[in-house]
Amino acid sequence: MLSNIIANQTIHEAYGGVVPELASRVHQQNIIPAVQQAIINAKVSKNDIDAVAFTRGPGLLGSLLVGVSFAKAFALAQNVPLIDINHMQAHILAHFIGIDKPQFPFLCLTVSGGHTQIVLVKDYFDMEIVGQTQDDAAGEALDKTSKVLGLPYPGGPLIDKYARLGNPDAFKFPEPNIPDFDFSFSGLKTSIMYFIRDNQAKNPDFVAQNMADICASVEKRVVTILLNKLEKAAKAYDVKTIALAGGVSANTGLRLGIQQLADKHNWKSFIPAFEYCTDNAAMIAIAGHYKFLKGEFIGQQVAPLARMPF
Ligand code: KG4
Ligand code: ZN
Repeated sequence: MLSNIIANQTIHEAYGGVVPELASRVHQQNIIPAVQQAIINAKVSKNDIDAVAFTRGPGLLGSLLVGVSFAKAFALAQNVPLIDINHMQAHILAHFIGIDKPQFPFLCLTVSGGHTQIVLVKDYFDMEIVGQTQDDAAGEALDKTSKVLGLPYPGGPLIDKYARLGNPDAFKFPEPNIPDFDFSFSGLKTSIMYFIRDNQAKNPDFVAQNMADICASVEKRVVTILLNKLEKAAKAYDVKTIALAGGVSANTGLRLGIQQLADKHNWKSFIPAFEYCTDNAAMIAIAGHYKFLKGEFIGQQVAPLARMPF
């Protein structure tokens, strides 16, 4: 990995969530400087680049269009092939950047702001979703909770920070009863909202006085919901290697939890390096690398997909 540039967008903080229209405009402004910086950091010449891999989906269409259009133009100008990548597969393939790579098959719990999935990974591009959320994603539940707590967007990292200082058993939130390996976070999200609203009505300083305990208790519930399902799926599929991927895998409680789960059963667990958990270019590059080895390229007529199956 020669360079991994991330152009973050802070503009959304003022709105408490990502504004799609603004996201694509800022992405459009950032993309060329980010690629230029990547080439400088990597100490390569543009002519050393053998192919361009880009995110085809899933995601916000406006931002995907910017990336696809840039990748096409770059590939055309440099006369190199184009490689289309599925964002969720790339989160999983981030495990192959380092030296310690998981062996197939493994089960990957992929948790981000938009997705919550348990994926049976049989090969680099042979993946099967065995469970997923029926409504909200885990990251969304954390982001919404943090919003009600008055914390800035995205709230996941701040919930993590406060949770380290609090008592995870201070407050009890419900564990939804969902069949098989699927998830639901909308009921939990609503119960957290009501819990905070009702307590604030009784005591206007409730959130301020209990921030760490609320965050620790919410995080504990989200983590136990996720890991209970992962445990159940690993047993059902008789898979002894489990992994985490996606932005929420940056969460300290979840990272500790999956290690404890693996230790309990003598399974192996894999967690991506911190910088490869939240959205990054390196994960798209590693996925592109494996497609490149197979000679799997895409034509210039390719269109992005807001929803993209594996
Ligand atoms: O994968 P990602 O960067 O973007 C999407 O593809 O959605 O995931 C973003 C999600 C957000 O919900 C954010 O709050 C959450 O990951 N997140 C965290 C942490 N860091 C990021 N959630 C909990 N603890 C963290 N440390
Ligand atoms: Zn992501």
